[in-house]
Amino acid sequence: MKRLETIVKSDKLSQVVNAIRSAGAKGVTVTSIKGQGSGERPMLRSGRGTAQIRAEYNMMDSIMTVVDDSEVSNVVSAISQAAYTGKSGDGIIIVTDVDQVVNIASKKTDSSAL
Ligand SMILES: Nc1ncnc2c1ncn2[C@@H]1O[C@H](COP(=O)(O)OP(=O)(O)O)[C@@H](O)[C@H]1O
Ligand SMILES: [Mg+2]
Repeated sequence: MKRLETIVKSDKLSQVVNAIRSAGAKGVTVTSIKGQGSGERPMLRSGRGTAQIRAEYNMMDSIMTVVDDSEVSNVVSAISQAAYTGKSGDGIIIVTDVDQVVNIASKKTDSSAL
């Protein structure tokens, strides 16, 4: 199993969650976050003269999902398509190994717990 953490602009959240579910993921956990990439944050307002004020953070959402290894490439492709604009700040997908998942109600573990 792998844990996919996807960070996207908040206005892409619904599209990306729909894409993840359509690709077969059994659940998602969504968190509102703020972040910084290597590019510039948006202008909040311009000041007079040379003064410029930029947002300190990008307002983003993080979507976490745990999927079987066999689903990873499907889900990553679906996310990449749904979130793509081709511009800086589209976001990232972080894939990590998962040791164990336990479903509390059913007591099932790992793939059966998803
Ligand atoms: N190396 C990183 N580690 C953790 N989060 C990151 C990293 N790179 C990007 N992010 C997150 O993804 C968001 C979008 O980043 P990204 O699409 O890479 O923008 P940029 O084009 O400005 O680098 C950031 O605001 C941040 O929340
Ligand atoms: Mg970046």
